[in-house]
Amino acid sequence: MPEPRPATPRTVSHDLPVSGEFEAFMAGDWTATPLPDGIRLPVARLTPARRARLSARFPGDRLIVPAGELRVRSNDCDHRFRPHSAYAWLTGLTGEEQAGHVLVLEPDGPHRHEAVLYVRPRSPRTDGAFYRDRRYGEFWVGRRPDLAEAERMTGIRCAHLDDLPPTGRDASADAELATALSELRMVKDAWEVGQLQRAVDHTAAGFEDVVRALPRALAHPRGERWIEGVFGLRARAEGNGTGYETIAASGAHACVLHWTRNDGPLDPGHLLLLDAGVETDTLYTADITRTLPLSGRFTSVQRQVYELVLAAQEAGIGALKPGASYRDFHRAAMRVIAEGLTEWGVLKNAEGDFHRRYTLCSSGHMLGLDVHDCAQARADVYLDGVLEEGHVLTVEPGLYLQPDDETLPPELRGIGVRIEDDLVITAEGAELMSGALPRTPDAIEAWMGALTTG
Ligand code: GLY
Ligand code: MN
Ligand code: MN
Repeated sequence: MPEPRPATPRTVSHDLPVSGEFEAFMAGDWTATPLPDGIRLPVARLTPARRARLSARFPGDRLIVPAGELRVRSNDCDHRFRPHSAYAWLTGLTGEEQAGHVLVLEPDGPHRHEAVLYVRPRSPRTDGAFYRDRRYGEFWVGRRPDLAEAERMTGIRCAHLDDLPPTGRDASADAELATALSELRMVKDAWEVGQLQRAVDHTAAGFEDVVRALPRALAHPRGERWIEGVFGLRARAEGNGTGYETIAASGAHACVLHWTRNDGPLDPGHLLLLDAGVETDTLYTADITRTLPLSGRFTSVQRQVYELVLAAQEAGIGALKPGASYRDFHRAAMRVIAEGLTEWGVLKNAEGDFHRRYTLCSSGHMLGLDVHDCAQARADVYLDGVLEEGHVLTVEPGLYLQPDDETLPPELRGIGVRIEDDLVITAEGAELMSGALPRTPDAIEAWMGALTTG
């Protein structure tokens, strides 16, 4: 084990100077506080096989997977840090203290690699950084493991970050590595599906919190923000936070696909589109949307739009099974949308892609450590690939009937509806993970009624 070395403390100009006497006083009389023996991460039993699969793709290459760096939010305050998903998947480490750490897979013979994790260990009480360093010091941001503790947590050999060998980077090799990692993460193991189910369950609880909070939110001039805050409380209390910026969109804001400004009021005559997900402490996120009548009851035109989106979602879900083309569920959902718009007289017929004016985005995506998971995978593995057991994905068709769209009858303008659920592909078909939340208009009305009365 290398000797601990002094770190240069990150201080700022308004920090008070430290006298020699104070420095000496701070260096002594501290009790040793080692972490207990049982700190091995449960996922550490799975990470060696993940690293071995990556290793097999790049024989003889040195592979560098950084956790990422802290980013300044303002002056001497940083954004909250979340490690890169590939780093979390390969190491099992997910905490804010991973900022700056780097996993290196060093070639060890032609067909294998040795993993070395370069970390910033806890600084000893003898060097002052623990109380002077605002960015990493223990008295400022909390304790970090020392090298031996980090090894016990991960089962990976750990070295001091200062010993990280110089790493020349090559953009095309980096892109190839990112692609491989995206593709390796596509099929989820049983532990990952369990984490995603937890994320979904906490998200369902967050949606219930929002419905219960509607009377307060309706009374607030920025009711959308109130809703964002209520969901965020659940996300932060149960997990690491939200897996992406919450979309709390009422009225015509629901026609903006990713409305995250959330600065509008709520009108009881409008719908609320809530697209939100809790991210677990292990960094797996749910991604669920419900579109709810703020009065508790759908109007007939709101119900008409909602039922078409629901029929499209049912068709999409029905197309999920191992061996199906990834594009099948989108095609099935869009067929229903195009036919429905034709029945309404909005389209002349269901052929071509004219329906896209009203739906805009694709009907789903892979879900996992990232909300839009595995996005660097090659098209032949993802978009043009086939579904496999263990894929987890969303099915989320929507209709976004813009308020200024003159091709629409006036009563439809300004209505936005998305219904988004999370599913895992099984041997037989697909299992709905988010079935705890109601989807039909009648079930939504009954659920809202039960949560807001008594
Ligand atoms: N929340 C972004 C999406 O549904 O994909
Ligand atoms: Mn979503
Ligand atoms: Mn989504």
